[in-house]
Amino acid sequence: MGSIGLAPIEPIGWTIAVQRFSLSTRIFIAFAVVVATFGAAAFYGAATVSGLRHELGFLRQRAVPMLRTLKSHSLELRGFDEALQRAAPHDLDWVARFVPNAKPFVRLDRILRRLSKLTHQARAPGVITALLSPPPPLPDVGQELRLLRSSKRASKRIEGDAQLKPLLSQGPPLQGDEQAFNALVKALQRAVADKRYTDASRLVVEVRRVVRRIHRGVDRAERKLQLALDDRFEVAQQSEARLGLIVLTSTSVALGVSVLMLWVMLWTLKPMASLANVVRRFASGERGARADTGGAREIRQLALEYNRMADALAERERELVSHRDELARSERLATLGHMAARVVHEIRNPLSSIGLNAEMLSEELDTLQPGVDEPPSTISEAQELLGAIGGEVERLREITEGYLQSARSAPQIETSVDIGGLVREQAEFVRAELRERGVSIELYVEADVIANVDPKLIRQALWNLVRNGWEAMPKGGVLWLEAFHAGVPGQTEVAVAVEDSGEGIAVELRERIFEPFMSTKPSGTGVGLALVAEVAKAHGGRAEVATPRHGKGARIELILAAPKHA
Ligand SMILES: Nc1ncnc2c1ncn2[C@@H]1O[C@H](COP(=O)(O)OP(=O)(O)OP(=O)(O)O)[C@@H](O)[C@H]1O
Ligand SMILES: [Mg+2]
Repeated sequence: MGSIGLAPIEPIGWTIAVQRFSLSTRIFIAFAVVVATFGAAAFYGAATVSGLRHELGFLRQRAVPMLRTLKSHSLELRGFDEALQRAAPHDLDWVARFVPNAKPFVRLDRILRRLSKLTHQARAPGVITALLSPPPPLPDVGQELRLLRSSKRASKRIEGDAQLKPLLSQGPPLQGDEQAFNALVKALQRAVADKRYTDASRLVVEVRRVVRRIHRGVDRAERKLQLALDDRFEVAQQSEARLGLIVLTSTSVALGVSVLMLWVMLWTLKPMASLANVVRRFASGERGARADTGGAREIRQLALEYNRMADALAERERELVSHRDELARSERLATLGHMAARVVHEIRNPLSSIGLNAEMLSEELDTLQPGVDEPPSTISEAQELLGAIGGEVERLREITEGYLQSARSAPQIETSVDIGGLVREQAEFVRAELRERGVSIELYVEADVIANVDPKLIRQALWNLVRNGWEAMPKGGVLWLEAFHAGVPGQTEVAVAVEDSGEGIAVELRERIFEPFMSTKPSGTGVGLALVAEVAKAHGGRAEVATPRHGKGARIELILAAPKHA
């Protein structure tokens, strides 16, 4: 995975808060936010459109036809009035027949019923449209018309010709009630039938007044309704424009949120890229490459596991390298051992023949008569030399036998050997000789330093360490010999240390001094420390260069496992 191309992010408050969530929770939240935002935008749009449709439906199917009805009724009433106006002066008979058929109140009743329904419906517009901006309420246009027919009393007053006269003479405006109108019409018919044309003319005037009043009321109602509908159309138009704006805005917000969530996801997954990069670096040999353990819980876990694995691999590799070095050293030692064995084997035969010949020569010398064959001093001198040769040959034979025996046999491990005692014994063994060389011995031996070892091998190792110590101090100095308990509780070890006050071991040599044949001395063979390492290994222990405790010289420690106590 390549770089995602995001700028590095400073861990600010909210990023820390986000980091607390697991990866799956983050993905879930991101998708939930995107879905919720789009869902809200879509729901809002749909609800608003539905409100608008409802409103337009109401206007188209109810309000506008109502307006048309009012208009046509207004026209009818005007036509009615004009017909009365034209006919009244000269054709009252026609008028008396024509007026009962007009029934303006019947129509008015229907209109009133529809108007009350309309007002009722207009109060329940689309929910969202109402929230956005409620449409203006329809005026109660029916009120105007209802007034026209409100008076019951009027109807009673007009009943019969007897009451008609005072009513007409008083001249109160007729309230327009249907029954009153009907009474008026009946009175008119009677007046025409009785040929009381003067009364009839005055009744026609009254009828026309009622009709005109109804006409005016219907007109006013129509105008009011028209104005209200204009208002509502305007509101609907504004709502539509606002809807467009809202849908655009909410869609942009949803898109913005989606982009933000995408960015958050990429930012969340960014540590994966760097983790992959670290793994690649590790695979190409950079053993120190470790992952950053930040980010989501799962990624942090992955990084931690990777780091643990990388540590384990690096450790394993270090062990392998050290095992390989040790193997090489062992191989060289084995070769040396074989060569030494061959050399020893090869010189054994010449040695025994030298010994035999020396013996024979000695016997020959014994047959010579001192003073006769040779001067007595010469014979005794020769005998002495031959004795010395025999002695050296015998010593060499012992050494070779001893070497061959020890090469053939495995270490002779003895239980609970007093390591402190071995160290003390070594110190006593060399003390006098070292004193002559100006080297003093300091002994530090803890009580009960005990291990299961081959004492002969330990002595050999100690001897080599002591020899290196004094060789490092040609002008004299101090040699510390120590035996103590080491290690941690539960995994106890004992240690033998030899430290000198010489120049110390150069840093670059420390890794190599245990290798066979590694020597910086003109006459050194480089076998001493290799043998020490072998002895340590034969006992399951280790030999190492330690930090000096007394000065700046060299300190070598031979560390052995202490026997476990039951
Ligand atoms: N006490 C010491 N102080 C300084 N250098 C040391 C000391 N002991 C060992 N060395 C270094 O480690 C090298 C290897 O030591 P090692 O005992 O194996 O061989 P050597 O002493 O050179 O020869 P050999 O012991 O076979 O006669 C030495 O040549 C020397 O450079
Ligand atoms: Mg040595």
